[in-house]
Amino acid sequence: PKYRVAMLVGSNRKASLNVRLARAIEKSAPSSIQFTWVPMYDMPFYNADLEDNRPTPVNQFVAAIEAADAVCMVTPEYNRSIPAVLKNAIDWGSKPPENNVWRDKVIAMAGTSPGSLGTALAQQHLRQMLPILGSIILPGEVYITFKDSNMIEDDGTVNDPDVADFIADFCQRFARFIQRLDH
Ligand code: FNR
Repeated sequence: PKYRVAMLVGSNRKASLNVRLARAIEKSAPSSIQFTWVPMYDMPFYNADLEDNRPTPVNQFVAAIEAADAVCMVTPEYNRSIPAVLKNAIDWGSKPPENNVWRDKVIAMAGTSPGSLGTALAQQHLRQMLPILGSIILPGEVYITFKDSNMIEDDGTVNDPDVADFIADFCQRFARFIQRLDH
């Protein structure tokens, strides 16, 4: 693989539908990209008092984002926004401004929810905050209503052919986008 992509999943629960979607994306991706799953769940809430001696999970997170050519955020929607774990990770990565890891980072996003809006509003919030931090966002919208429990299996197998095509198209576009921006 030519490009390393950090996979950030905004849900930390075992039976997460977004973990299933992230696995489906990983399976469907072209060989030019390789995913590394980067955990966000052990970081404390952002607190500027900790800046002098950043907790180890924060340093590990920031190093993983720095090392990645691109980032894929796969996230649920909580109360019409992104979950606090993802917001917290974005906040840690953004500070101090001279070390902002999101600057010039290529980012794609996707999400699924049982609701009909399928994380559209959470993604809208990401599209509002990430460009301010200097990220380059893959255009297009990938939110998926999780229709029945078998639509994507636990191992990432997609049983709905339309959803499988949609995910494959997203992966192809993401890979081409990363390549295009690689100068
Ligand atoms: C939700 N859920 C939800 N769904 C949605 O489409 N829009 C929303 O605003 C919310 N809000 C919300 C808030 C909180 C606190 C929770 C716990 C859940 C439902 C959510 O989509 C559903 O629980 C998903 O299954 C969560 O994603 P994972 O954990 O399965 O990946």
